[in-house]
Amino acid sequence: MRAMSLAVLLVLTVSCKREQRQLRVEPDQRAVSLEAREGEIQPGGPVQELVVKNPYEGNADAIAEGERLYGWYNCSVCHGTHGGGGMGLNLLAPALVYGDASDNLFDTINKGRPKGMPSWGGRIPTNQIWEIVTFIRSLRGLEPKAVTPAREEALQYQSPAGSR
Ligand code: HEC
Repeated sequence: MRAMSLAVLLVLTVSCKREQRQLRVEPDQRAVSLEAREGEIQPGGPVQELVVKNPYEGNADAIAEGERLYGWYNCSVCHGTHGGGGMGLNLLAPALVYGDASDNLFDTINKGRPKGMPSWGGRIPTNQIWEIVTFIRSLRGLEPKAVTPAREEALQYQSPAGSR
């Protein structure tokens, strides 16, 4: 009897394991920014809370690579070599129009923005978009000091409160 229930248990455990198996969700499919949503009403009802995390947060190598890619993909042509703006918006502005949380920046680069920001999704691999996001955040002083390259005073983000 005991052996029997043990066997049943074993079968249950094994089948449970099988049911728990999940297909891996690719990051670019999960990259839906809730903060960048334009309204509360969404087709298909409430969206399940999706957590999008920048995989390169605090990663000095990613920042360096992001800086290289920022030039490579000609972001600098419109936004200035150091993000100070030009034809495109100033990425060092005290507040960004579309937000400077990692997922906002990802959305901006991935999907583009209406007034002339091209959409790069499909042209820049997801991991490289995240590296550029991390670079822009380091320009804005939003990455830990330890991983942020020192820049000339004039190129540093000025805090909006005018505290310096
Ligand atoms: C052809 C010129 C052009 C290029 C190239 C370009 N951008 Fe833009 N970008 C713009 C314009 C114009 C806007 C403003 C769009 C708007 O306001 O709707 C913008 C907006 C942005 C914003 C949002 C700023 C804010 O205040 O929220 C970010 C971030 C950004 N671009 C990053 C990039 C990155 C990274 C690249 C390279 C992969 C890039 N851009 C390439 C023209 C450009």
